[in-house]
Amino acid sequence: MNVIDAILTRRSIRKFTGEVVSDEQVNTLLKAGFQAPSAHNLQPWHFIVVKDKETLEEMAANHPYAKMLPQSGCGIIVCGDSNREARVGFLVEDCSAAIQNILLAAHGIGLGAVWCGIYPDTDRTAEFSRILNLPGNIIPVGLIAVGYPDEEKAPQDRFDKTKIHYEKW
Ligand SMILES: Cc1cc2nc3c(=O)[nH]c(=O)nc-3n(C[C@H](O)[C@H](O)[C@H](O)COP(=O)(O)O)c2cc1C
Repeated sequence: MNVIDAILTRRSIRKFTGEVVSDEQVNTLLKAGFQAPSAHNLQPWHFIVVKDKETLEEMAANHPYAKMLPQSGCGIIVCGDSNREARVGFLVEDCSAAIQNILLAAHGIGLGAVWCGIYPDTDRTAEFSRILNLPGNIIPVGLIAVGYPDEEKAPQDRFDKTKIHYEKW
């Protein structure tokens, strides 16, 4: 799939067959995450890959909108290291770029995925830090549930020329 097709056809997938995602597929997704741009090229991200059913269930129980996680069979939690990037805005932008790369890569290799926000919700960041045993300098930014899709979603055309401004507002 070429990159423009991937961008234009990607949708959030929340229903999964439960088929196991291979380590090779996970590595492809991680490679995509690591290739993201980051402010000053600091690459402040860490990726936690979770396949353990109990941990997936515990994360789902502590996130109001990630109930699909156990069925997906694989969660990737993208975290930012605040020792490496102290400006939280950049930290979150960098991790978000990595998340989007992973979503597109998943779609590109025929998997389905959905981004579930963690930061800046304080309850979620606290619970995910506890569940994943994160050191104090590591901020869980977002969770990606990824697996084999059990739903098909049509692309949505969101192009909106009223939101485009040339030269000045
Ligand atoms: C920062 C962020 C947080 C999100 N959090 C959740 C979430 O917790 N649960 C969920 O099911 N989807 C979540 N989404 C996915 C959005 O709902 C989805 O991207 C949006 O509805 C557009 O649909 P699409 O991804 O199919 O294009 C999140 C997306 C972003 C960017």
